[in-house]
Amino acid sequence: MATWQRHLQGLLQKHGRDRTIGYYALSTLSDTKPLQPRVRTVVHRGFVQGSSPECDWLLTTTDGRSAKFQEINAFPSVELAWYIAPAQAQFRIRASAYLVSQSVHGKLSVPDALHGASMDWGAERRRTWQALSDALKDAFFGHASGKPLEKEMTASEVVQIDGIPVSFALVVLVPHYVDLVELAQMQRTIFSEENGVWSSQGVAL
Ligand SMILES: Cc1cc2nc3c(=O)[nH]c(=O)nc-3n(C[C@H](O)[C@H](O)[C@H](O)COP(=O)(O)O)c2cc1C
Repeated sequence: MATWQRHLQGLLQKHGRDRTIGYYALSTLSDTKPLQPRVRTVVHRGFVQGSSPECDWLLTTTDGRSAKFQEINAFPSVELAWYIAPAQAQFRIRASAYLVSQSVHGKLSVPDALHGASMDWGAERRRTWQALSDALKDAFFGHASGKPLEKEMTASEVVQIDGIPVSFALVVLVPHYVDLVELAQMQRTIFSEENGVWSSQGVAL
């Protein structure tokens, strides 16, 4: 397991009672020109399970009707900023983002880059859906993200298969560069990945 991942998981375990640490800011690029940054808070849903306990792919979820879904489809390069306040640690993680979604005909869409993980992505999507709170599940049955509330909803907005709205999507973040700042120790470390091997370098704050 990469050192940064062990460190991050250790902090999440140690400070798990502080619910605010389970969120990070995920940035994308706009899918229309001029290209502009977009950023929003999302919930960390854990590291991808099932492929290997060492897997450093991060999991979050979204609605296929949201802007970020279109943006990731257009430009999979993303960066997330995650401040673990009780530890005074900031992780900035550059990653490629991949969407696991379902068509209205039920076909699961899994990007080629995720095939290598020999995962059952349908089961992962179901498991992640089941773990959502009822309030969050309800949001998928309402208006499309960002649409004016006065607008009439059309039935086609909420197609569901086996009780899961087709718009429910996994966002899998495959990291390749991590910039860790530990303010308490006044330390900054860059971790970078090449051909599956992570190396690290201490740098000035
Ligand atoms: C604490 C918090 C957690 C959130 N978690 C998620 C999440 O996991 N996935 C998600 O799609 N949106 C989440 N949101 C909503 C997003 O921040 C954002 O408002 C919404 O997804 C629309 O973003 P977009 O227009 O950039 O797609 C969260 C918002 C807050 C305040």
